[in-house]
Amino acid sequence: MAKKIRLGVNIDHAATLRQVRGGKTSYPNLLEITHQAVLGGADQITIHLREDRRHIQEADLKLLSESCPVLLNLEMACTDEMLKKALKYRPDWVCYVPEKRQELTTEGGLNVVKLKRELGRQIDRLLTKGIESSMFIEPCLDQVKAAFEIGADAVEFHTGHWVLLKGKKKEKELQRIKEASQYAASLGLGVHAGHGLDYVTAFEIREIPELEEVNIGHSIICYSLEVGIHQVVRNFQRILAGKRI
Ligand code: PXP
Repeated sequence: MAKKIRLGVNIDHAATLRQVRGGKTSYPNLLEITHQAVLGGADQITIHLREDRRHIQEADLKLLSESCPVLLNLEMACTDEMLKKALKYRPDWVCYVPEKRQELTTEGGLNVVKLKRELGRQIDRLLTKGIESSMFIEPCLDQVKAAFEIGADAVEFHTGHWVLLKGKKKEKELQRIKEASQYAASLGLGVHAGHGLDYVTAFEIREIPELEEVNIGHSIICYSLEVGIHQVVRNFQRILAGKRI
């Protein structure tokens, strides 16, 4: 039987759509989106509470920590402020990511080698509350080794560069992800992947035998608009015709 890869649905961009109107609209309702994602088979909901709060807000984290019916994975930077939030709301997982204010999205992997001491201190604190940790890194053996040495439970390989490459360069990057996955699994680390995955690249990445989890956000929200707009326009036509939906 084919192995089951956990699907983490990143709902940050549903929150982005709400925040472009100042966060004042009742839609999109993140709890409703979570329930619909779970109905579709989501194994996990992933959110990134960014320092600049450009999409997910602390109130969303609170709500989801109380009501998310599947695993909750909190992506966050390695700062004291974020550690306090994680210890307060106790998601199932914390995924450490680098964060720069000006970036459009998480642009590169975390430098675990450089942040080893601070990350190690943080994940020990998380463990006291039973929170597991993963490190969002480039497929680089030094970074995997550092993640293992600080006691992380998993690594999440950054697929964002691979999905944009073409030809030989793309093959080479996939090979790096495969080798890093083998190495991580040999150390007993969970192997996760994410960033920029769409229908095509998700199909390709699933071939990695060690892969346990993927986290997908932007394409899921975009595809949802494509497949959902038909029903919503129908709803409005009914309303305008004086009917209930
Ligand atoms: N994994 C991590 C660690 C991320 O930071 C992101 C983006 O928030 C994702 C996965 C999902 O990336 P995308 O939205 O491009 O699918």
